[in-house]
Amino acid sequence: MSWPMLSVTITREHDVVAARQRARQIAARLGFDLQDQTRLATAVSEIVRNAFRYGGGGTVEFVVEGQAPPQVLLVDVSDRGPGIAQLQPILDGSYRSETGMGLGIVGARRLVHRFHIQPAPGGGTTVSLRMILPATAPPLTEARVVAIGAQLARERSESPLDEVQRQNQELLRTLEELQRRQEELTRLNRELEDTNRGMVALYAELDEKAERLRRADETKSRFLSHMSHEFRTPLNAI
Ligand SMILES: Nc1ncnc2c1ncn2[C@@H]1O[C@H](COP(=O)(O)OP(=O)(O)O)[C@@H](O)[C@H]1O
Ligand SMILES: [Mg+2]
Repeated sequence: MSWPMLSVTITREHDVVAARQRARQIAARLGFDLQDQTRLATAVSEIVRNAFRYGGGGTVEFVVEGQAPPQVLLVDVSDRGPGIAQLQPILDGSYRSETGMGLGIVGARRLVHRFHIQPAPGGGTTVSLRMILPATAPPLTEARVVAIGAQLARERSESPLDEVQRQNQELLRTLEELQRRQEELTRLNRELEDTNRGMVALYAELDEKAERLRRADETKSRFLSHMSHEFRTPLNAI
């Protein structure tokens, strides 16, 4: 069971930005956290840009799959272009792009929960991006899906400038997050080093104890053999 929510037609470059905005707005309304909203918006933007650039435009369909949890947000991006010729090298990362960085598809695949590319019937490409809805959100009903779609369609879409500003904020947040992780890594590293040093000291102590024991043992054997010798001597003399 799947319920269509909204579709966006891609004919001009401007529409790529609009599709990105829609992806983020929908992800927000469905209860995805900020990070997942950014992930989906970024992936949709890369794939829609491809459909525009290489496929001459197309459509983006936002659909909710499943009646009960886990429900899934599906974003289908289709075009009627020539299809993707070198899909395998692209997917395994060996493809060198002449038009861009060549990281749109592999990057987008990393950002979403499920990623699927298939040739569209009659020529062209369909890329399906899927995100599993957060378990914390109440289950979606068909009426709610339709209502969100209608509400978004009524809303005036923001200007591209607003979207650029938002992308900048996302970038700043990502950089801050990276910085935080870097600091966490440094802290963990230091902790690991301390633990290591502790272990080394402990082993040195153990070694030293073993050595002392060995020496004590040697002294004892020497003493005993000496003693038995001493004991035997007078007896032998008798
Ligand atoms: N919808 C599409 N239709 C036809 N070819 C495509 C499509 N999407 C991607 N491609 C091809 O796949 C290549 C890799 O795409 P991508 O990973 O987004 O990198 P880039 O766009 O930076 O080259 C593109 O260079 C293009 O040749
Ligand atoms: Mg691309």
